[in-house]
Amino acid sequence: MLNYADICGKVGELMNWNGKFDGLAFGGDYNPEQWPESVWSDDYELMREAGVNLVSIAIHSWAQLEPEPGRFEFGWLDRVMDGLHGADVRVDLGTGTATPPPWMARLYPETLPVQEDMTVLWPGARQTYCPSSPVFDELSLRLVEQLAHRYASHPALAMWHVSNEYGCHNARCYCDVSAMAFRRWLEDRYVTLDRLNDAWGTAVWGQRYSAWEEIMPPRVAPTFRNPTQMIDFRRFSNDEFLARFRAEREVLRRVTPDIPITTNFMVIRHFNELDYWTWSEEPDFISNDHYLSGADTNPHRELAFCADLTRGLAGGEPWLLMEHSTSAVNWQPRNIAKEPGEMIRNSMAHIARGSDGALFFQWRQARAGSEKFHSSMVPHAGRESRVFREVVELGGALRKIAEVKGSEIESRVAMIYDWESWWASEAECHPTIDFNYRDISHAYHHALTASGHTVDFIAPGVPVGDYELLVVPGFYMMNEQDAAVIRDFVAAGGTAIITYGTGVADDDDHAWLGGYLGPLRDVAGVSVEEVHPLRQGEQVTLDDGGNADVWTERVNLVTADSVVIFDSGPVAGLPAIARNVSGSGVAWYVAAKLDERSVQKLVDRILDEAGLAAIERPPSGVEMVRRKGEGTSYLFVINHSNSAVELSVSGTDLLTGRTGPVSVAAGGVGVVREEDG
Ligand code: GAL
Repeated sequence: MLNYADICGKVGELMNWNGKFDGLAFGGDYNPEQWPESVWSDDYELMREAGVNLVSIAIHSWAQLEPEPGRFEFGWLDRVMDGLHGADVRVDLGTGTATPPPWMARLYPETLPVQEDMTVLWPGARQTYCPSSPVFDELSLRLVEQLAHRYASHPALAMWHVSNEYGCHNARCYCDVSAMAFRRWLEDRYVTLDRLNDAWGTAVWGQRYSAWEEIMPPRVAPTFRNPTQMIDFRRFSNDEFLARFRAEREVLRRVTPDIPITTNFMVIRHFNELDYWTWSEEPDFISNDHYLSGADTNPHRELAFCADLTRGLAGGEPWLLMEHSTSAVNWQPRNIAKEPGEMIRNSMAHIARGSDGALFFQWRQARAGSEKFHSSMVPHAGRESRVFREVVELGGALRKIAEVKGSEIESRVAMIYDWESWWASEAECHPTIDFNYRDISHAYHHALTASGHTVDFIAPGVPVGDYELLVVPGFYMMNEQDAAVIRDFVAAGGTAIITYGTGVADDDDHAWLGGYLGPLRDVAGVSVEEVHPLRQGEQVTLDDGGNADVWTERVNLVTADSVVIFDSGPVAGLPAIARNVSGSGVAWYVAAKLDERSVQKLVDRILDEAGLAAIERPPSGVEMVRRKGEGTSYLFVINHSNSAVELSVSGTDLLTGRTGPVSVAAGGVGVVREEDG
């Protein structure tokens, strides 16, 4: 039987999406409709100078493509397609459906999205649609059909870019049309009202439903809303967008069966509206948009996490970085420009972690509109600018490392990632607002990265496979099957690190009884009797000199041994870290949010014990990631630090041509071909 990675591989091979452009993809969103046509020839010349080979167009262009209902104007797009083809640039063609034209709101106001307080979101920005609207469905598919037929055999067409960042601005719609769709979705899920009443725990606060028509989206209510209803509404909203994607995809597959189809995900810390595991097998290949947070003093860590997670969604296959920025964005409170060299480090870090290219938002910086202060490949200052020079440099660097295309990452450690646990753990009325799912997963990802490992991400409930170490961070919403795969992994000799906040509730968000950790208690050899969140800023000490904050737990040892003990705080004298031998493997349980040093110390100890210590540990502030090709491997060394690094490994740096022990300048990047890899 094929596993998921094989299936992805097969689809990827059949579609050969990364064979649609030479070398690695390089380019970005291109919005020529914002400029007089006289600028276009300058664009093509600059694209040639930079080495651009792929651009995404028409993503938000519905209003230009269909200025009145049923009247299509493709002339301008024909000229853009032809012009790009003439410039040797391939096209990732948007289906234009991300933003409906203003006439849709005027003629069909019921298509507008509505917030939880029933505020209507009016036209004037973008993504102004309700995903459950049958009118939107019909009109968007009509546009896709037209586009698909018109460009089916255009030589520039390389791939389809369906919609844009589903759920970015209109993630949940609470209108009456959505309410009806939500009820249909609930009937499918629960079949009977009794089952729904049970799952939603409607005996609490007298919420029992006696007719499907009584059920509403979780609109603003007098106080805390039913948490299971909230989770189900998120699941429903996810599925509505997925249905939109599938509907467009089916039109495209019918008309252009050989053109690969993607939609750009938002695997980024601040976005959690979609459960991307439910999407991962749907496009022909995975693409992602990623932006740094200006408030983050170590943004490359978050980038590494997201790039690894995106590779997980791609089943380990190469994926495509569809958007990132050359410098500042425009949508944060303080939009910090990238330092010289930072853009190249960022692009290379995505490629190191599996992207077969580096695309940007956007090609030419807008003169007008909300994004005029968003950096681009060609900035307001024009060609004579630091940013454009770096863009040209990056284009050159990507040509030099083109042979890495198609190579993959091999990892011995994996982390379970669960969007539903993220959703559920953020609900109101929890023990503390400081429990942060992403913080927990980031802490362990960073420690593993710093110790020289590249972490693969896997979905909950799927067999763990050949990994040797598995991290289970804050897996709040856990069912029997989720626990069974972890149990099997440990029983067969694996090592697991399980953290606090795991196995608190089941899929209905009902608490596991008899001690948290629920079905995983036997594996961890402990039972969690009570949680003890800490006051804001409060720290407790551990008997090995470490600290913890935010969250502590009262843990009872069953078969596990205590390794580190709380020295102070509400559970002083009780275990903070426990170790349990289970079958042929070992499970570690961490009952608190440890400080960064303690996480690192623990991870290093576990890696040592499991025989997984990396041969060469990256110096501080340096990322080291290997992509394996046929009979060779490529070591990416990304130096975020202020000093040059010398490593003991050697090979040929594809960027400089230098052979021998690897050395990388401060702020620089090395991509080293290791012949014996
Ligand atoms: C993305 C979006 C792009 C652009 C970019 C700016 O979310 O897909 O169209 O707006 O952000 O950072």
